[in-house]
Amino acid sequence: MAPGYALALAFSVALLVTTDAGNPGLVARITQKGLDYARQQGIIVLKQKLSTLHLPDYSGSYDVGVLGNVDYDINSMVVTDLQLPSSEVTLLPNVGLKLTVSGAYIEIHGKWRVHYLFISSHGDFELKVLGISISVGLSLGSDGSGRPTISTADCSAHISDMQVHFSGGLDWLINLFDDTIASSLRDNLQKQICPLVADAIQNQLEPVLRTLPVTSNIDDVAAIDYSLTGPPIVTAENLDVQLKGEFFERSHRSPPPFSPLPLSIPDDHSLMVYFAVSEYLFNTAGFVYQSAGKLIFNVTDDMIPKDFPVRLNTSSFGKMIPQISKMYPDMLMKLKISSPSAPSLAMKPGNVTISPLLDIQAYAILPNSSLAPLFLLNLSTDAVAKLGVNSSRIVGHLELSSITIALERSDVGPFPVQILSFAVNYYISHILLPEVNDILKNGYPLPLLDHIQLSNLMLKLNEHYLLLGADVQYE
Ligand SMILES: *[C@@H]1O[C@H](CO)[C@@H](O)[C@H](O)[C@H]1NC(C)=O
Ligand SMILES: *[C@@H]1O[C@H](CO)[C@@H](O)[C@H](O)[C@H]1NC(C)=O
Ligand SMILES: *[C@@H]1O[C@H](CO)[C@@H](O)[C@H](O)[C@H]1NC(C)=O
Ligand SMILES: *[C@@H]1O[C@H](CO)[C@@H](O)[C@H](O)[C@H]1NC(C)=O
Ligand SMILES: *[C@@H]1O[C@H](CO)[C@@H](O)[C@H](O)[C@H]1NC(C)=O
Ligand SMILES: *[C@@H]1O[C@H](CO)[C@@H](O)[C@H](O)[C@H]1NC(C)=O
Repeated sequence: MAPGYALALAFSVALLVTTDAGNPGLVARITQKGLDYARQQGIIVLKQKLSTLHLPDYSGSYDVGVLGNVDYDINSMVVTDLQLPSSEVTLLPNVGLKLTVSGAYIEIHGKWRVHYLFISSHGDFELKVLGISISVGLSLGSDGSGRPTISTADCSAHISDMQVHFSGGLDWLINLFDDTIASSLRDNLQKQICPLVADAIQNQLEPVLRTLPVTSNIDDVAAIDYSLTGPPIVTAENLDVQLKGEFFERSHRSPPPFSPLPLSIPDDHSLMVYFAVSEYLFNTAGFVYQSAGKLIFNVTDDMIPKDFPVRLNTSSFGKMIPQISKMYPDMLMKLKISSPSAPSLAMKPGNVTISPLLDIQAYAILPNSSLAPLFLLNLSTDAVAKLGVNSSRIVGHLELSSITIALERSDVGPFPVQILSFAVNYYISHILLPEVNDILKNGYPLPLLDHIQLSNLMLKLNEHYLLLGADVQYE
């Protein structure tokens, strides 16, 4: 094959793969209401940060004509008061976010020193910076590792007024040109704001984003991939972060044999956040645990409640299938229940159904502890899943609606399988199902930041996904 052709082929395969991997398994949507709440919390943090802002010393010189220059320097500046009365975070469609602060006020205390001819003097000053407005556009993206990126798209800053009052020493001297110092300080400060903002974003926020975990371990077997499938999608109403939302096996990752379906999330934005959890996410969990051989469950007689009449022993089963007690008299039995294929659930408006196939292999336990196979049943089951949320985890509960039993293989000769219905129904619904529900009760954790609590929960089943809406509270 010609190298050029191979390259073109590789390229088109890569393109195909990229488009194929396009649909997310999970979408986290933040509404304007959510941004407003985040801004309120952010302002508190920002105020604390700015209060401890280190202001650089500053020196200048004032030309007093034939009399020469007055040299001054300003030092030891500390912020004594700071007000951020008005701020806004808005969505910038197709770009990211716009952050505006207006009417901000800072009061600074500092020391001054002047040198003029042979005179030198020093004292204190109070500086009031009034009407500070800042507007920053932030563009959001994603990098090759599936992490979000943020950068300043544009920035403007303006200070409308500055008042300075000097006291102590020869304050009359410096008060002669306080307006000049104030406007020089103003220009200087105004010029510093945007570089400071850009620096904070590039050197403080970006490094945090670059180290965000994109996978989260669930247990020894599985982890979830939370990497971004593309840049966040920003519209006038919402910010959608599209995540892979896929379980994978920790010891060796192999792609699931199915892909996520597109999610069309309704245009609802009365709550702060929404999560659209595709059935894909749950089905990759089924795929991972089944291929890791974890969907196997052994049942022995000691697990069967004492009052249930059909014991897991050959004399008890011999009453239904006489060959069993003839071939293996007076022995205990064991059932191995396994899932021959990955269970997959289907979400529809109003309900979630899951129809797992099960194999039940029955054994007699021989006196030397080895197992003699008796028969193999295959079952098709139908169950309805109830989903809920318990402290930021999606939890589930299964209810069986039907079980159909067939005999796949018998090592004890033919028998009518219906004879086992009563016992099998009981083992499935009273032994296996409670175990499964115990696991589902632990649930699957939503990708939330620490200290975030959900309230006003809304849960709705849609075609192929679960929509969960909530208000958040930072604690
Ligand atoms: C079930 O029993 C088999 C054979 O006795 C054993 O190898 C396996 O580890 C058991 N599985 C579980 C989950 O207990
Ligand atoms: C088998 O179960 C019967 C009750 O059906 C009980 O009487 C008998 O002792 C059990 N045998 C064994 C070997 O556990
Ligand atoms: C689930 O809902 C679909 C339609 O919404 C309906 O056809 C089906 O019977 C329901 N299944 C169960 C088990 O309730
Ligand atoms: C256990 O006993 C059975 C028959 O009694 C025999 O066929 C089998 O090989 C024995 N297994 C072991 C591990 O000794
Ligand atoms: C059991 O398996 C057979 C073949 O493997 C299949 O034809 C049959 O539909 C299955 N029955 C159930 C109830 O799953
Ligand atoms: C929620 O989960 C906790 C532990 O994770 C559990 O103790 C509690 O019973 C659960 N509540 C409900 C309503 O399931």
